[in-house]
Amino acid sequence: MDKLVIEGGLRLKGEVVISGSKNAVLPIMAATLLTDERCVINGVPDLRDVQTMTKILRSLGKTVEFNKGTITVAPNKHSSFVADYKLVSTMRASFCVLGPLLGKLKIAKVSLPGGCVIGVRPVDLHLKGIKALGASLNIESGYVVAKATQLKGSRIYLGGAYGSSVLATANVMMAATLAKGKTIIESAACEPEIIDLAEFLIKMGARIRGQGTPTLEIEGVRSLQGAMHTVIPDRIEAGTFMVAALITKGDILIKNVCYEHLGAVVDKLQEAGAFITTKDNALHICYKTRLKPINVTTLPYPGFPTDMQAQVMSLMAVTPGISIITEKIYPDRFIHVAELNRMGAHIQREGPHAIIEGVKELCGAPVMASDLRASASLVLAGLVAKGKTSVLRIYHLERGYEKLEKKLEKLGAKIYREKE
Ligand code: UD1
Repeated sequence: MDKLVIEGGLRLKGEVVISGSKNAVLPIMAATLLTDERCVINGVPDLRDVQTMTKILRSLGKTVEFNKGTITVAPNKHSSFVADYKLVSTMRASFCVLGPLLGKLKIAKVSLPGGCVIGVRPVDLHLKGIKALGASLNIESGYVVAKATQLKGSRIYLGGAYGSSVLATANVMMAATLAKGKTIIESAACEPEIIDLAEFLIKMGARIRGQGTPTLEIEGVRSLQGAMHTVIPDRIEAGTFMVAALITKGDILIKNVCYEHLGAVVDKLQEAGAFITTKDNALHICYKTRLKPINVTTLPYPGFPTDMQAQVMSLMAVTPGISIITEKIYPDRFIHVAELNRMGAHIQREGPHAIIEGVKELCGAPVMASDLRASASLVLAGLVAKGKTSVLRIYHLERGYEKLEKKLEKLGAKIYREKE
């Protein structure tokens, strides 16, 4: 396995182009199961998670071709309703094939994804929504088996203990597109990735209203057709490069961003002292004055994204003063704290809070994390640390960042791969 080696201390400067959104493309790929016609998805990032979803679609009977950022999904001779444990267990997002499989085939057998390093991550809301559409649900040998002769539209409240659920909203919305009658999802996720999925489904012929609000209305149709769509830019990748600019006291023009998707991140980084301007679909961020500590609470969109929590923690780790991060989506998502402390950070975890006392400098060290955004936070820390940092298990970074080291290298970072 490869590791990423970073020689820290260099100021990043220049331009970077953001890739298509991982979290938008995965459910959109799953949505192609709702039709027998050809679908074309543009702006697709070349990521391990996309490869995993490709394998799942193939196992379910689709032909999938990936060529220069465009994925073409077409029907194959056979089709299957079984999403295998081996594939689903490597990526939780694959659970969102449940809704489209059930909608289209009226039967689905999908492995339960199990826990992961950032917490228990239940799927009760997915199942509640699917059941409310009239499906029978059974758990058999670690698989959910869902069946229905005809899904029926229903009013479904999908809020959970931690607010709305992105993929449960996606799953239920997809199933409801082919249900009989009207479905109303209350406390639906408002994330831009849900809007993007809804836009794709509408192009397929679905009748959806209210995307981007907590109340989604879906009027079921008999069938859906093929469609072509370009996915939105990845707001988490953009946010990660924004932090890269600040942590290295740099100056970066970030291209292909949707500024309106970045409201909470822009607001917090400006509060910390970032200089940010925007023009067309580009965002310019630069370090001008000494940064100030900030308090950040993660919340469902439009709140501050949990997927940016670890990266901002690295920034606060080298910002003088006390910052407090409160994690309200995944209270156990603090795997990076111990690794950052190994690099000399002063971070203390108290339940869902992390108290960060900014230090003058971090020291390079071998570090590893078992989740994607935690790994990104370690790369960011490595960019500013004194000496060499080796980020092990970069498998996780490859799940969600397209050509990360190439993009950072182009901005002036000293970063390369070595065998572990
Ligand atoms: C998606 C994102 C992930 C992001 C997360 C929160 C994708 C592929 N992944 O994950 O990057 O970190 O949103 O923004 O889009 N929950 C339940 N029951 C459920 C489902 C969720 O209690 O049935 C809880 C979760 O444990 C968590 C909260 O709800 O505490 C939000 O999770 P959710 O929005 O479902 O995350 P994902 O959609 O899995």
